[in-house]
Amino acid sequence: MPKNGLPTQEQYSHESLTRYEWIFGKDFLSSGAPEVASHAAKALDLRPGARVLDIGSGLGGAAFFFAEAYSAQVTGLDVLPQMHAEAQRRGNERNIVNVAFILGDVLSVPLPAAQFDAVYSKDSFLHIQDKQKLMQTLFRLVAPGGRIFFTDYLRGRAFGSQEFETYAADSQYSLATVEQYVEQLRVAGFQNIVTGDWSERLTEILREDIAKLRACDSVLATADVDYLIDRWELKLRCLHSGDMKWGSFEARRVK
Ligand SMILES: C[S@@+](CC[C@H](N)C(=O)[O-])C[C@H]1O[C@@H](n2cnc3c(N)ncnc32)[C@H](O)[C@@H]1O
Repeated sequence: MPKNGLPTQEQYSHESLTRYEWIFGKDFLSSGAPEVASHAAKALDLRPGARVLDIGSGLGGAAFFFAEAYSAQVTGLDVLPQMHAEAQRRGNERNIVNVAFILGDVLSVPLPAAQFDAVYSKDSFLHIQDKQKLMQTLFRLVAPGGRIFFTDYLRGRAFGSQEFETYAADSQYSLATVEQYVEQLRVAGFQNIVTGDWSERLTEILREDIAKLRACDSVLATADVDYLIDRWELKLRCLHSGDMKWGSFEARRVK
């Protein structure tokens, strides 16, 4: 685990972006991203002009979707300089005016308080160790009456199998349980907390991806295909054993 818990340049190198984007879809870097963004837009009750913050915006896929399909004013925040630069480049290419990308760590970026009607994040909090500080930061950023929605990889239980613990440690993930997140949201001041278990959906997506990878003909290098299949099969075992879950969290800052 790196001392600051942040993602490494290697995890999101140019080569890995290419192979991940091939499997996740254009402008996305995580499983099921377009369907989660659609679901979140409804949960967040996005309206034209809504001020949205996407934490860990990656290549900008969700930010572009909220801006284009919902006419929201979106800020995409990412901690990695090359991710930020690439998202900005893609935004300029699309000539999209209602999305701005900023570079920074959500825990320390100097954003003004109560600035956003909606805060969204997709599978990015697994990189952040201090979850209580994170939930307090979300509460500070969202305006009274505003909503948050995030998904994350989760621990199914406090201690998992050796294989799962090694996978989480090697990936430098800090994973919380559903109960820990709910308690941290509550302590931070959020109300109307709703959780969703997306683990079965992730299982389906990973299986579909593996079939796609097996059928992939010279689009990716063989080493990339083998790497992804191994990693996806490992995730499937962790989901199947119940050591890992994939879940969503919705909550409101009432006042
Ligand atoms: C798995 S990727 C997901 C990207 C995007 N949400 C998607 O679904 O395509 C996780 C992203 O979170 C970013 N990230 C990790 N820790 C962060 C932090 N402390 N502050 C802001 N961004 C962070 C990473 O740089 C990476 O782009």
